[in-house]
Amino acid sequence: MAERVEIVEMAPRDGLQNEAGFIATPAKIALVDALSQVGFPRIEVASFVSPKWVPQMADGAAVLAGIARRPGTRYAALTPNLQGFQAALAAGVDEVAIFASASEGFSRANLNCTIAESLARFAPVLQAAQAGLVPVRGYVSMVTDCPFDGPIAPAQVARVVAALRDLGCYEVSLGDTVGQGDPERVTAMLRAVLNEMPPERLAGHFHDTAGRALENVEAGLALGLRVFDAAAGGLGGCPYAPGAAGNVATEKLAARLMALGYDTGLDPAALARAAARARRMKGGQDV
Ligand code: HMG
Ligand code: MG
Repeated sequence: MAERVEIVEMAPRDGLQNEAGFIATPAKIALVDALSQVGFPRIEVASFVSPKWVPQMADGAAVLAGIARRPGTRYAALTPNLQGFQAALAAGVDEVAIFASASEGFSRANLNCTIAESLARFAPVLQAAQAGLVPVRGYVSMVTDCPFDGPIAPAQVARVVAALRDLGCYEVSLGDTVGQGDPERVTAMLRAVLNEMPPERLAGHFHDTAGRALENVEAGLALGLRVFDAAAGGLGGCPYAPGAAGNVATEKLAARLMALGYDTGLDPAALARAAARARRMKGGQDV
């Protein structure tokens, strides 16, 4: 039997957060519902961040209230602090994600604080989550390059991964936020990170700005990673990361994984339908 590789679906969150025009809540709900048909074990559906910072994500609670939940799918949301965690929990998320940066420049731009301050804010989130038995995923952004600080040393990424591990994240997703990494540098970064966390607790999160995301996924596969983030339709970017383009498209990644002999467990026809819907949401086109 083919080995399983999991794709974590990002379009409703990492995908839509970068859209300039506000997308109506029913359209977001329809996207999540279309994605639920595909059979993803995890879908990131919203962010509970400051609506002043990311207005597009202001309706996270309404999105979670409106979706038809598929048994077997966990619905997740980003939470930058305890306020966000409490709101996400009230909205009925199955799990949350905290997000740190490997670079000080992006930490300041994205979270308005230093890396150390962000970790200090995450500690009470982890405590509250552990008390409520809510799983917490961690992200590290800018794992190879940062538009503010330049190239990032692998040892720096490993330090932030270790900090998220020590806080209690069950998995850490490694973000090439601006999609400038190449397989050589991704491999060097992963080698450093693997000293801190085993491959079964790591995920790759590659944006496809330079068209190298699939090669970077393959670099991750070679080192034992079996979880990768992607967004249907290749939606995405980060409003606080200049130059960040879309996530690797889920349909492209699923096809490549299949060609490499892996099983994603996804329904290809449902994926094609969801990806078409996601593509129609790009740039303010309607659904
Ligand atoms: P701040 O302005 O320093 O925070 O922002 P503050 O504590 O001074 O609060 C300012 C206001 O925001 C207050 O309201 C708070 O109540 C409110 P006011 O009194 O002015 O009316 N506030 C909140 N409201 C709702 N939910 C909350 C919340 N927290 C505070 N949770 C803060 C600090 C962290 C809040 C802000 O910087 C922020 O929201 N940043 C999030 C930015 C973001 O979402 N970026 C995109 C996601 S990261 C990403 O895409 C990368 C990733 O995909 C991986 C990769 O690709 O690398 C994950
Ligand atoms: Mg991202």
